[in-house]
Amino acid sequence: MPLSDSDSTSPAPITVTAPAKINLALSVGPLRPDGFHELRTVFQAVDLYDSVTVRAAAELELELSGPEATGLPADPGNLAWRAAALLAERAGRKPAVRIELVKRIPVAAGLAGGSADAAATLVACNRLWGLGLATRGLHALAAELGSDVAFALHGGTALGTGRGETLTELAAGQLHWVLAAAAGSLSTPAVYAELDRQRAAGREQHVRSGLAALDELAQALRTGDPATLAPLLANDLQPAALALAPYLRDTLAAGRRLGALAGLVSGSGPTCAFLAADHEQARSLAAALDADPGCRFARPVVGGVPGAAVLEPTAAG
Ligand code: C5P
Repeated sequence: MPLSDSDSTSPAPITVTAPAKINLALSVGPLRPDGFHELRTVFQAVDLYDSVTVRAAAELELELSGPEATGLPADPGNLAWRAAALLAERAGRKPAVRIELVKRIPVAAGLAGGSADAAATLVACNRLWGLGLATRGLHALAAELGSDVAFALHGGTALGTGRGETLTELAAGQLHWVLAAAAGSLSTPAVYAELDRQRAAGREQHVRSGLAALDELAQALRTGDPATLAPLLANDLQPAALALAPYLRDTLAAGRRLGALAGLVSGSGPTCAFLAADHEQARSLAAALDADPGCRFARPVVGGVPGAAVLEPTAAG
């Protein structure tokens, strides 16, 4: 049975938010013996957040709520659960925690929502249990949990290498995006497997090889000029995502027709990210896409926001 908030022996509950991510560029290298692909990718965190509140409990419990919670497991199939269990195991303690997860990031959408939840849970339990693990220690656990979890801890804009877990921060001005998704989801392993199939059949349509334009991209990010950045956005997973979800062609075409500077599939999809010139254009583009019957979800977001962070209680509360 969970301990109540008023139990004087319980530490106060901790709430942590963690952002969704998009990939501004994603170059996929060969399949490694461990089943992962060598990546070079530019991640950017956007201001669409899940939040996790943790409080002391007799045993590990997970409660899900929020607009995107439908169908998610509340057991070890959930990355937030696994994050709490892993941190407890490494700390040599019981995972005696109740996790309340509010899902706003669409699931299996190419936005690393599960990774955000894992990152938020690591930060929250580290604080709740008074473990005092520094960023480097949390980062090592994050990398064990998934390829994108380290970035969800870090946030901002970063180059990801290895399987995506080795990060180098990139300076970036503020960017305005629209995230748009048709109904449906894509499995990340299935999209990577489709890319491998396309490569084996010599059918991969190369968008841009090896992030050749990385220096140019880094420069465009520094200046924050969206028009310079627009032609440099590229995702090697896009042809595979389009093969598995051909309806995404319509989403991409709609965004471009409505004036986006550029549009691409985010990560393994099916969310598409559209670059806008400014906040106003992002708002009007999101409203127009939202009105499209083929679009389940469209919202303007700002890129480059911080990673998982504790919501400190206000002085009043
Ligand atoms: O690390 P994560 O659990 O997010 O990866 C999910 C799946 O995506 C992996 O099992 C693998 O099939 C694929 N993947 C990959 N190469 C990467 C990252 C993910 O093949 N660098």
